[in-house]
Amino acid sequence: ANDSPRVTAAQPAFDGVDLHALAGRLGTPLYAYSATAIRQRIAGLQTALAGLDATICYAVKANSNLAILGLMADAGLGADIVSAGELKRALAAGIPAARIVFSGVGKTDDEIDAALEAGIARFNVESLDELHAIERVAGTRSATANAAVRINPDVDALTHAKISTGRAENKFGVSIAEARRWFAERAQLRHVRLDGLHVHIGSQILDLDPFRLALHRVAAFWRELVQAGHPLASIDVGGGLGVRYRAGQDQPIDAGDYAAVVREALAGFDGRLLLEPGRYLVAEAGVLLTRVLRIKEGTERRFLVLDAAMNDLLRPSLYDAWHDIVPVSPEPRPPATYDVVGPVCETGDTFARGRELPECAPGDLLAIQGAGAYGASMASTYNSRPLVAEVLLDEGRYAVIRRRQTYEEMVAGEQPAQDWQAP
Ligand code: LLP
Repeated sequence: ANDSPRVTAAQPAFDGVDLHALAGRLGTPLYAYSATAIRQRIAGLQTALAGLDATICYAVKANSNLAILGLMADAGLGADIVSAGELKRALAAGIPAARIVFSGVGKTDDEIDAALEAGIARFNVESLDELHAIERVAGTRSATANAAVRINPDVDALTHAKISTGRAENKFGVSIAEARRWFAERAQLRHVRLDGLHVHIGSQILDLDPFRLALHRVAAFWRELVQAGHPLASIDVGGGLGVRYRAGQDQPIDAGDYAAVVREALAGFDGRLLLEPGRYLVAEAGVLLTRVLRIKEGTERRFLVLDAAMNDLLRPSLYDAWHDIVPVSPEPRPPATYDVVGPVCETGDTFARGRELPECAPGDLLAIQGAGAYGASMASTYNSRPLVAEVLLDEGRYAVIRRRQTYEEMVAGEQPAQDWQAP
């Protein structure tokens, strides 16, 4: 993946597209994704999994643009969804229902019903109450739902607390002890076929040990279930593979090493493996292009004020996440230190503090790296800033895959309070 398309200071093109020309034509802020880089990530993971009966179910939440989902569909991937909206997007993009799995602790009856109607492959069930809800809703359709128990293996993923999901204290999944009771009583389920396990311990994981530990716990339970007469049709190993946000510092997970851990932990399993990577497939394939509005010399710090803000890319504000920032300009310049901020009216609207960058001037074009995952999909219109445009690049050509939102689109649906009614 090292020779994947990537914006560097020396090379102001991305996937063969000149970024100055692109920004000049479409304006900034602008999300730009490399189709080539995404295809390379998919192919790399598929190669690493060769020989296994494995289905990659892309975690739609990472980047849910229909054109990105279309790339996943073209490559034969499935989808991991967490809402009826994601179900609709995945189906609209051509991902077959038979390759869709549904995760999340708060599935509503309507969402369960929509997923049954579409004929999705499997529900990843997070609580006994949800199991009963699926049984009930499937019963009203005289359908049978395939289900996996999401195991909470009580493993520390060694990542940011807000994106850690596999500790006993987290809201996700159930203990192995509880899952054991579900299987023991599964004959009572008439509309749920409980024959799978699921585990997802967190996101942006850069260390293989937590994966190994979680998968070994799941594997021990799978063997126990087989002994007890409960063979499994599938084991879903979740997502969480970390990527490189900081060049020269982050050591991203290698697909081959990850696959080796899965192969070793689940050796002898003859059902289907499911994987739910999101970030790994798209994060490094995207940049947020932004221009310098001005430089403000504060009394204590020097601020680089961009036209992009926390509403466009929330990760630095929400998780103190590091994103490399690269000026799209080949000329060498002396270094300068900046607090890189957006125009939104709160101090948390900061992309980087005390960041050393080549000296900048108003109008300069910058690329915020690693913006392909959890960027546009977490954007909002806070401060009444319309959603930014998204563009897909592919070997020298580009296609707009989301128009910049207009003011009218931003306020569509709002109206003066005039038609008062009693509930
Ligand atoms: N499967 C399940 C059940 C998940 O909850 C998630 C992510 C994934 C798969 C995909 O994880 P990935 O491979 O992308 O790490 N907004 C945060 C990340 C939240 C991840 C939530 N769940 C961020 O920007 O870092």
